[in-house]
Amino acid sequence: MITWEELESRCLHCQNCALADTRTNVVFGVGNRQADVLFIGEGPGEQEDLQGEPFVGPAGQFLDVMLSVIDLHRSNVYIANIVKCRPPRNRDPLNIEQDACIGYLRTQTALLKPKIIVCLGRVAAMRIIDKDFRITRQHGQWFERAGIQIMALYHPSALLRDPNKRPETFVDLKRLQAKIQELCPETFSNVF
Ligand code: URA
Repeated sequence: MITWEELESRCLHCQNCALADTRTNVVFGVGNRQADVLFIGEGPGEQEDLQGEPFVGPAGQFLDVMLSVIDLHRSNVYIANIVKCRPPRNRDPLNIEQDACIGYLRTQTALLKPKIIVCLGRVAAMRIIDKDFRITRQHGQWFERAGIQIMALYHPSALLRDPNKRPETFVDLKRLQAKIQELCPETFSNVF
């Protein structure tokens, strides 16, 4: 099995799709490589591309708030994206780009062996849970794949744009907190 270090270095040099031509930095992933909980976003935005780290722009600041609502912190979860390079003007990643990149996330998942996966937004949910996933109807529901519990939340950008979605997300986050408490309560300790 490849190591985290080998995978990261391969990913940082990736030329598998055209996003390599326009990126500033590859955004591999961040967090605790021993975590039981994996958050998956869609792809880097402007700030992420500049800094090489996922969820560091406005959506990322809101993700930190969402985590803190249920006593989580970046240091006790792992955060990655479906595509590791920024799609121009933040458009949705094309299927061809997702296909070229998904192997990295698959291997990250194999190395991490998470008990719980949280898809952030429609694009991640359609790729990970079901190609016909409807985020407005199915956010907060639990799915199971290969022994992993999976749910989708509204993307933090959607919650920034539309505060009316926040109360539903609060309920979803509480469901996530309960699932973590049930399956991997040690996630809540050792915040620092
Ligand atoms: N949106 C995402 O989906 N991922 C990031 O890393 C940043 C913004």
